[in-house]
Amino acid sequence: MRSRYLFGAHTLLSLLIFTTSAAFFGCKKADPPPPQRRKISPPPQPPRRVEAPKPAPQPRNPEDSYALPPVFNFERDGSVLDMANWLSTRTATVMMRTLRQEMAGGSIEKAIQTCQKTAGHIERQFGKSHNATVQRISHRNRNPANLASSDEMKLIRQLKQKIAMDSPTLHTLLPSEDKKTKTVYLPILVAMPTCLKCHGSPTKDIEPETLALLKKYYPQDRATGFRIGDVRGMWKITFQKSP
Ligand code: HEC
Repeated sequence: MRSRYLFGAHTLLSLLIFTTSAAFFGCKKADPPPPQRRKISPPPQPPRRVEAPKPAPQPRNPEDSYALPPVFNFERDGSVLDMANWLSTRTATVMMRTLRQEMAGGSIEKAIQTCQKTAGHIERQFGKSHNATVQRISHRNRNPANLASSDEMKLIRQLKQKIAMDSPTLHTLLPSEDKKTKTVYLPILVAMPTCLKCHGSPTKDIEPETLALLKKYYPQDRATGFRIGDVRGMWKITFQKSP
């Protein structure tokens, strides 16, 4: 009891000293006291919540933004085009991610092998799951299977002209004669410096080691010498009318 009393007196005393000295040190001229001093009570504290541990930040998945395919209607060209855009973007994203992982791992050989093995696989897989075939074709191809046909060569030439003329529509949609399939061609451009590491100038952009590997895996390679902005080829996405 006694000690508590003492403690109370001591606190009171130090408060007094503190307040007076604060008035002394703090203000040159003490303001007249306000007519009515409001009692300052501490703001109500919110009840303490036990926070759940935060989950570790997940690496952003670039596929997420394209997670849902658009509604598909074979009869509507706009819908066919939307789906072709979605499929090509998604396939490209997965391809680039796989490529980037391998390149970050430091092995260009693995990256090239991955390209060789997975490109076709990813194209087939995406196509199958959406009742379509997804391919990449090129006028200057690396994989012999990706060489454009003579009609497609014409489309690539037209595409280059359209780009030169700043045309807003770069796609081509071709229904087959029996109207049972629709094929969409979309441009593939050499859009970023990464592409040059394997498709750029053999003397300036591609490392000698990479060049040797490309020759080893693709003795007929015609897919070098590209520059940023060049047409690299086209996506060819064919949809079947469901029976
Ligand atoms: C690590 C090397 C490497 C990089 C980087 C690379 N590619 Fe390729 N690219 C290849 C290989 C290998 C093939 C052949 C794949 C196959 O066998 O189907 C290929 C094939 C292609 C094809 C298919 C047509 C053909 O010639 O066979 C296109 C289109 C293409 N690449 C575009 C690009 C674009 C655009 C970029 C940049 C975003 C890029 N590539 C980056 C190695 C690379």
